[in-house]
Amino acid sequence: MNDPRPVIETQKLTKTYRMGATDVFALRGVDMRINAGDFVALMGASGSGKSTMMHLLGCLDTPTTGRYLLEGRDVGSLSAQERARLRNQRIGFVFQTFNLLPRLTALDNVALPLLYRAAGKQGNAEPASPRKRALVALERVGLAERAGHRPTQLSGGQRQRVAIARALVGDPALILADEPTGNLDSSTGGDIMRLLAELHAEGRTLLLVTHDRAVADQAEYTLHMRDGRLLP
Ligand SMILES: Nc1ncnc2c1ncn2[C@@H]1O[C@H](COP(=O)(O)OP(=O)(O)OP(=O)(O)O)[C@@H](O)[C@H]1O
Ligand SMILES: [Mg+2]
Repeated sequence: MNDPRPVIETQKLTKTYRMGATDVFALRGVDMRINAGDFVALMGASGSGKSTMMHLLGCLDTPTTGRYLLEGRDVGSLSAQERARLRNQRIGFVFQTFNLLPRLTALDNVALPLLYRAAGKQGNAEPASPRKRALVALERVGLAERAGHRPTQLSGGQRQRVAIARALVGDPALILADEPTGNLDSSTGGDIMRLLAELHAEGRTLLLVTHDRAVADQAEYTLHMRDGRLLP
C-alpha cells in the first residue's frame, strides 16, 4: 500500500506573543502530521495553544519559528498574497462564534469566499456562478430554504450550518473547526457533528478542536496539547 499523504506537516512550530515586556510562549515546538482523509480531534486545557495552532494551520497567522507544509507546500516561503490564495482555495474554517457577516444573507455569506477567489485571479472564470455553487453548499447542509435569511433570522445551529457551507463551498482539502459545537446545546451540537462526520465520510480531512470528550470520540483519533506542546 502507498504511504498515506500528509495534508498537514509541521516541524518545531513555535508562536510567541509579545505582551509589553513579557513573552507569551503559546506554542513551544509542535510537530504535527495529519494525513489526507483523517478526522482528528484536538483537545487540551484552556490556554494550551489549540486556537493558536489552528490559526497557523489555517494560514490566518504566521509562526515565530518552525515550518508548516500544507499538502507538501512550505507555507513560510509564500508571500502574504500567495498565503491568502492558498487559504482561500485549500482550507475551510469553522469558528465557535460562526463569524457570519450580519448584513449578508445566508447565500451571500456562503458565496463570499468564491467572490474573493474570483477577484484575486485573472482570466478564466469559475465553472459555475458563486451563487449557484453557494446554493448547492446550502443544500448540502440542509438549508437551501433559508438562503435568503440573514444570520439574525437563523438559530445558532442553522448559523453554524451556514458557516459549514461557507467552509465547504470552495471544495477545500482541509476543514479546520475550532470548537464548532461550543456555543450550541447538545442536541444541536449533535446535528453539527453528524454533518462533519458525513463530510469526513466523503473523503475530506478534518481537524476539530473541542473540550467535549463525547465530541472528540467521534473523530478517528485525538491529539492532546499541553502548555504549547503536543503530547506524544
Ligand atoms: N493574540 C494574542 N496575544 C497574546 N497572547 C495570546 C494571543 N492569543 C493567544 N494568546 C495566549 O497564548 C496562549 C494560548 O492561547 P490559545 O488561544 O491558543 O489557547 P486555547 O488552547 O485555544 O484555549 P481555549 O481552550 O481557552 O480556547 C494563552 O496563554 C493565551 O493567553
Ligand atoms: Mg481556543
